[in-house]
Amino acid sequence: MRPADRTPALVSRLPQVGTTIFTVMSALATEHQAVNLGQGFPDFACDPRLLDAVDAAMRAGHNQYPPMPGVPALRQAMADKVRALYGLEIDANTEITVTAGATQAILTAILAVVHPGDEVIVLEPCYDSYVPNIELAGGVVVRVPLTPGTFRPNFDAISAAITPRTRAILINSPHNPSGMVWSEAEMRRLEEILAPTDVLLISDEVYEHMVFDGQQHQSAARFPGLAGRAFIVSSFGKTYHVTGWKIGTVVAPAPLMAEFRKVHQFNVFTVNTPMQHALAAYMADPAPYLQLSDFYAAKRDRFRAGLAKTRFRLLPSQGTYFQCVDISTLAVPERDLPEADFCQWLTREIGVAAIPLSAFYGDGFDQKVVRFCFAKKDETLDEGIRRLARL
Ligand SMILES: Cc1ncc(COP(=O)(O)O)c(C=O)c1O
Repeated sequence: MRPADRTPALVSRLPQVGTTIFTVMSALATEHQAVNLGQGFPDFACDPRLLDAVDAAMRAGHNQYPPMPGVPALRQAMADKVRALYGLEIDANTEITVTAGATQAILTAILAVVHPGDEVIVLEPCYDSYVPNIELAGGVVVRVPLTPGTFRPNFDAISAAITPRTRAILINSPHNPSGMVWSEAEMRRLEEILAPTDVLLISDEVYEHMVFDGQQHQSAARFPGLAGRAFIVSSFGKTYHVTGWKIGTVVAPAPLMAEFRKVHQFNVFTVNTPMQHALAAYMADPAPYLQLSDFYAAKRDRFRAGLAKTRFRLLPSQGTYFQCVDISTLAVPERDLPEADFCQWLTREIGVAAIPLSAFYGDGFDQKVVRFCFAKKDETLDEGIRRLARL
């Protein structure tokens, strides 16, 4: 036994933070053998060619530290992709760094640019790491809601939130949790608003290859006024069905990247070598990421067709692998529960895990909407739908 009185008491750096809702719901799903449509990860395998490439990289001896910013071949492959898809020329030596997933990229970018007391704008609902990241840097979180109902950006509110103390704004398109995708006009509007300011942009684009119905992903890389001030964050985990590998990239103009790397080198220093070589080789074929939108659109359509037979009201899903539903139209009395309690009930009693949208708001704003993840095998989706059909 460890004598408890020997452990000094701490004042928490993050007093508001507990276990994330994703961990809580996944544990509950396991306990109740529920179909886990909560946490956002695929339940199917990645392309075996990618596994072969990792094996080959390890056997070829790529097992020691790579260069601090990442394996050159992978940085070059990403630079080529950014040019081909978004028309932005970047220097693979000075303007891109390989990170331990998007999560580390976002934290490192924030630690690199936010000084204590600086304001950082987040658009709620937002991914759960943003706010604690800003708090760790000593920044002041400025929350601007996306428009309730549509989740579209409210530019009057964004403009009003910008002050001389604003250091950065974080945006995310395609958007988790809502599945909303920023239009070209919306990106241009942001470009106009930021033009007279020195506000930096952190653009979380981890779902960039999941955009449906003929729309295009509007990367910040396409807009010179945004790209010139942006950290643009991507994730191989989302794109290649390997969320557990935790590898991503960040693209930024050289002066911003120089500051990013100062933090990165003492944060993780480098990211594992064989996966980087494997990803570089695998990226020679663009088909896997070019076909991803069609792959997920088919899953979205299958899932929506099933849900259409229930009393859930379906919200649009323009991108990502998430489908949100309004629970207030259900016939069961549990529809009146707070979203989080509803999700617990759904997991326990109906056997399907979902995530409450209130978890993505600082004040727990409850709009009777929950999020399902459809990055699942067809049989998993079908079983989820079979169980939800009771509602
Ligand atoms: C919006 C958003 N940003 C970042 C991440 C984290 O990505 P990674 O696993 O590459 O760290 C996620 C994962 O769910 C996400 O949804």
